[in-house]
Amino acid sequence: MKIVSVVGARPNFIKLAPVHKSLSQYCDHVIVHTGQHYDYEMSDIFFKELQIPKPDINLGVGSTSPGEQIGEMMKRLEKEFGYGRREGVERAGVASKPDLVLVYGDTNSTLAGALAASVNNLPIAHIEAGLRSFDRRMPEERNRILTDHLSDLLFAPTGTAARNLKDERAVGRIINSGDISVEVVKEALKFSKDSTIMKELSLESKSFILFTMHRAESTGSYSNLKTILETFQQLEKQRSDRSPSSNRMQPKSSSDGNSRSTGKYSDQGRQLQIVFPIHPRTERMLKSYGLYEELVGCENVKITTPLGYIDFLRLLIESYKVVTDSGGLQKEAYLCSIPCITIRKSTEWVETLEQGWNKLCDFKTKEMIDLILQPSPSIGKNYSKHIFGKGDASEIIRDSIISGYHKSQS
Ligand code: UD1
Ligand code: UDP
Repeated sequence: MKIVSVVGARPNFIKLAPVHKSLSQYCDHVIVHTGQHYDYEMSDIFFKELQIPKPDINLGVGSTSPGEQIGEMMKRLEKEFGYGRREGVERAGVASKPDLVLVYGDTNSTLAGALAASVNNLPIAHIEAGLRSFDRRMPEERNRILTDHLSDLLFAPTGTAARNLKDERAVGRIINSGDISVEVVKEALKFSKDSTIMKELSLESKSFILFTMHRAESTGSYSNLKTILETFQQLEKQRSDRSPSSNRMQPKSSSDGNSRSTGKYSDQGRQLQIVFPIHPRTERMLKSYGLYEELVGCENVKITTPLGYIDFLRLLIESYKVVTDSGGLQKEAYLCSIPCITIRKSTEWVETLEQGWNKLCDFKTKEMIDLILQPSPSIGKNYSKHIFGKGDASEIIRDSIISGYHKSQS
């Protein structure tokens, strides 16, 4: 049996790792990288750290407008699948005529993989199927919906995701596999013990917030980026007001809206630094709005390049709280029992909202500061990591695929 996995962006690579390990023992597993992400820190590092072999094919599509990007990916994938007949190039390469095309998550590479397979009548399996934020402004939400409704096998990471697919009457077979990240996180945490990132950044455990932001709808607005900077600046003010050398420790009138004076925050919260591994999109947008220098000027912010998964997970488990607009990070924070503040109107990982482990937040400085400095929730009896499965998703995925194939052959 030949299976082609189509991947292209950071979150796709992370999900690919356990699936490749599990599938490659049982079938011919070909990896096609679309080239959506191409910087070392956004791509190669994940293959290296997570021990995924180098992709069999890299389509080298790169960054452009979404329509052109998806179109180019489809065109090149179609050729690799062996259907580029119009140009007289009936190819018999490593990815030609697969028995199944496997796609992951919700990126443009996911959708392009599903579309290129679908128009050529190739069976499709979708890992991380059925997630819904119900916010169609997000390209990821559109990619998920379209991919799900083209897929034959739908691997749902949670009960909610499986229910969403049933409610939408998706035609593919729905399998509640649990979430693939449970395995990746568990495995990578073993390696993260040896990470030197805390030392490199001179950080103390629980003394910082891990901050990431990269979504098109967040970074495309001057006002959103400015609000983030103001939040950082206000947090720095809190910090310097608490510093022993400061002569500004007296309570201040609350009339300026500064939450510093309310007395409801812990000292630990007030000392926080911010660690910001910056996504290339965010850096580009900050520079284009003339805000990057202002960010560099924030004394409480440590900016880094995007980090490899092992260093990143080490920062996650050592952080006081996470503030993010990422999808995957919300769930990883939950799995590591780190409180998360999600700067979005809705989330596809609704389970993380229960018991206050994840809180949705608008782009409003006061709201963000309140949530950051509030005491963290404690682990109650309803806190269960099993909502994301038992950590055997890659086995369930492999067994369902292989048994389905044998049935179709008999
Ligand atoms: C994509 C996914 C998003 C995912 C994110 C993970 C879509 C629609 N979005 O968003 O779901 O959360 O990846 O990081 O697929 N760039 C570089 N170097 C790179 C890659 C990108 O400089 O290696 C820059 C380019 O300027 C590019 C921009 O980042 O235009 C955005 O990249 P793109 O892949 O289009 O979207 P992401 O924001 O990364
Ligand atoms: N991540 C990483 N290094 C970073 C930032 C994020 O390894 O500097 C990881 C993060 O843990 C997550 C994955 O990259 O599992 C994808 O996150 P991202 O926010 O890029 O995408 P999303 O999950 O929102 O699609």
